[in-house]
Amino acid sequence: MAQDELFSLTEEHRMIRQAARDFAQKEIAPIAAEFDETGDFPQATIKKMGEMGFMGIEIPEAYGGAGMDTLAYVLALEEICKVDASHGTIMSVNNSLYGYALLMFGTEEQKQRYLPPVASGECVGAYSLTEPMSGSDAGTMRSRAERVGDEYVINGRKSWVTSGPVARYILLFTMTDASKAHRGISAFIVDADLPGFGRGKKEPKLGIRASATSEIVFEDYRLPAANRLGEEGDGFKIAMAVLDAGRIGIAAQSLGIAEAAFEASVEYAREREAFGQKIGQFQGVGFKLADMKTRIEAARLLVYNAALAKQRSKQSGGRFTLEASMAKLFASETANFVADEAVQIHGGMGYSKELPVERYFRDARITEIYEGTSEIQRLVIARNITGLK
Ligand code: CAA
Repeated sequence: MAQDELFSLTEEHRMIRQAARDFAQKEIAPIAAEFDETGDFPQATIKKMGEMGFMGIEIPEAYGGAGMDTLAYVLALEEICKVDASHGTIMSVNNSLYGYALLMFGTEEQKQRYLPPVASGECVGAYSLTEPMSGSDAGTMRSRAERVGDEYVINGRKSWVTSGPVARYILLFTMTDASKAHRGISAFIVDADLPGFGRGKKEPKLGIRASATSEIVFEDYRLPAANRLGEEGDGFKIAMAVLDAGRIGIAAQSLGIAEAAFEASVEYAREREAFGQKIGQFQGVGFKLADMKTRIEAARLLVYNAALAKQRSKQSGGRFTLEASMAKLFASETANFVADEAVQIHGGMGYSKELPVERYFRDARITEIYEGTSEIQRLVIARNITGLK
């Protein structure tokens, strides 16, 4: 493939992509529709993904991960999402929100203790920033952590936590000094097995239904100060830096959904007949396929480019905010465009649960909302271009 050469994919990259493709076909494809229908959490396949190394692709082997690079992560995630975006969401939050945060900001002790169980798939990691009254305006949270001796006492309610109903370890952002606004936010590694931690009701969702989402609740929850990630007051910057990595994951997820919807459409256009010919012979359908393919390939360039920018940042220490937001914005809008056109090309069959196209359409919608809406991505991109706020 031309992109393989353009992005200098190594043998290792091709191998993990193939391994993810094979795994998704063999283990996830047969159960995806059923788990979408029931909304059950796919515990068994997630555990197997951990055993395959997919839950900690960039985590060094010393901490139980696969020790590979960001491009490897993106290639594997794209393949998983091409079959089922729900599995992809769980994988993405585990890798590029929880795992990346600990790798970048954790102490040696925190990495040794809190990375291996999550990288191996033994348990699932989560990231919790949002609150019922604090979404896009992430600096306005109401939950609190108060320092008492060598512990913090945490109270409050967080919402829309991906893997919230099942996660053992959660990266929590909460206010330690409300008088300092966003500079008063700190980050903590929360253990869900400690007293005072509760899980709220599971959200009934339009798409990515097998990825469980819920509120989490803290009532006089006591956490050792050693579980703080970074310094007091560093939380907002950690949250933003980590979201840059997470947004590349959602961009890869979007690419996977778009490819699945596109390939189904090509197949259908070649087979389905109307008015005495294959529907793909009609210009109206052919032009749709042309636009879908063109946007997918443009999205791919942005997504892989963002992965390389993140890789470079490991050496330079620089940010990759712009590349990540552009990739997330364009890829998520592409996923929605392509999935919508795929339904249209399939006609009634696109609206039926007998084919996965309607699932792609529902799953695509969240990619323009979570880890920063399209509006937030445009705001981040504009601020990066102008340097103005
Ligand atoms: N990396 C590092 N630091 C960053 C940064 C980045 N990418 N972006 C901003 N900062 C720093 C700034 O330099 C600034 O530092 P100072 O305090 O030293 O000045 C500080 O953070 C505050 O920055 P802003 O003034 O730009 O902050 P803001 O209040 O204007 O907000 C925003 C900026 C882009 C709107 C931000 O609030 C944002 O990204 N909002 C969306 C939140 C989001 O994506 N939520 C999704 C949560 S996760 C989820 O979806 C659920 C799940 O489970 C996956």
